Amino acid sequence: MKTLIVYASKHGCAKSAAEKLAQAFGTDTELSDVRNITRIDLENFDRIIIGGSIHAGRIQGQIKTFTQRNLNLLLQKQLGLYICHMEEGDGAMKELADNFPGQLLEHATAKGLFGGEFDFDKMNFIEKFMIKKVAHVTESLSKINEDNIHEFIKTMKD
Ligand SMILES: Cc1cc2nc3c(=O)[nH]c(=O)nc-3n(C[C@H](O)[C@H](O)[C@H](O)COP(=O)(O)O)c2cc1C
Repeated sequence: MKTLIVYASKHGCAKSAAEKLAQAFGTDTELSDVRNITRIDLENFDRIIIGGSIHAGRIQGQIKTFTQRNLNLLLQKQLGLYICHMEEGDGAMKELADNFPGQLLEHATAKGLFGGEFDFDKMNFIEKFMIKKVAHVTESLSKINEDNIHEFIKTMKD
């Protein structure tokens, strides 16, 4: 089964999740930053996974554009959707629901809440200020949910 993984990532978390997925799905897998996606023919793939990260409640605009533009084609593929995020519980579920089209969420075989990380070394001054003020976090913190990543892979493969 040919797999395409399309991701957008600001500080590397959603990218590293995409790389883990690519490893799990084996040699017939292509990995693409959403910014390079126009060079790829989506028709060639049986399975498509799309992931991004949440900043101020929103996924990257390029992911929104990509899912809206290719909605009908994506509905014909085995589909997986995931986000990296630091919100927990219902808040994280809502972020997933708010950031992908409803039809795709209904159609998706797997929906992943992969957790995320605050990496102060990669944040600019404004980001650090925001995170300290809003999340009350003052140093780097990782909450990547490896269990959810494994569960996502298992669901997609079954
Ligand atoms: C400025 C900023 C704003 C953020 N806003 C949110 C948010 O609204 N909700 C959330 O769940 N996570 C939020 N996060 C956490 C990110 O989703 C988390 O850092 C994620 O791992 C980023 O993934 P990336 O490195 O692939 O961009 C925010 C992080 C930063 C730095």
